[in-house]
Amino acid sequence: MNRGLFIVFEGIDGTGKSTQLPLLANFLRNRGLVVVETREPTDGPYGQQIRALYSNRNQGTPQQELELFLQDRRQHVRQCIQPALDQGKVVLSDRYYFSTAAYQGAAGLDPKAIFARHAFAPQPDLVLLLTQTPADSVARIRNHRGDVLNDFEQQDQLEKVAALFASFEHDCIVRIPAARPIAEVHASICQAVLSLLTNKGVRCSD
Ligand code: TMP
Repeated sequence: MNRGLFIVFEGIDGTGKSTQLPLLANFLRNRGLVVVETREPTDGPYGQQIRALYSNRNQGTPQQELELFLQDRRQHVRQCIQPALDQGKVVLSDRYYFSTAAYQGAAGLDPKAIFARHAFAPQPDLVLLLTQTPADSVARIRNHRGDVLNDFEQQDQLEKVAALFASFEHDCIVRIPAARPIAEVHASICQAVLSLLTNKGVRCSD
């Protein structure tokens, strides 16, 4: 089977994932690879329900929230991720099941049990886990995005989420310090991805 490469960006809110993902996509396209950029929650029906939760998280229980993220992910895998991997493409996803284990784990569910619900989900070849302190994240969301913090982004909640991300020990995770200039973070990401390409024997132009 001609399987592509699956690379996931993870981390607490405000670490610059959505800035870095398109930069990596361009870097890979310039080397002749076919890249699909995607994200979770998706823009599909379940993703839209999840986004409606942002403004008022008390609408549902953590368990109901988890089920919505799982339904969204099942559809995402079936309609987008797996077909692209089958076609040999490079899939870049802004968030995946590590976010569920960290965020719904922080909401009181068992992260191990959450990982165990993902037998249906292809495992990423590389997880770029962008790290910075929750205080830096909150400052960045406020100053740079000019946003009011949504219910997922409150600092006490982010502290719990960050602690869970820090506890994950999967071999596919590479931690990238994110409280640095965009170009420096991008360079670290490219280095991690180039070593993945070399390990996988993927040929690309310089
Ligand atoms: P984002 O679109 O800004 O990344 O926001 C998505 C929010 O949803 C973010 O605060 C993290 C949260 N989230 C979960 O709680 N569980 C999940 O499984 C995913 C994918 C996201």
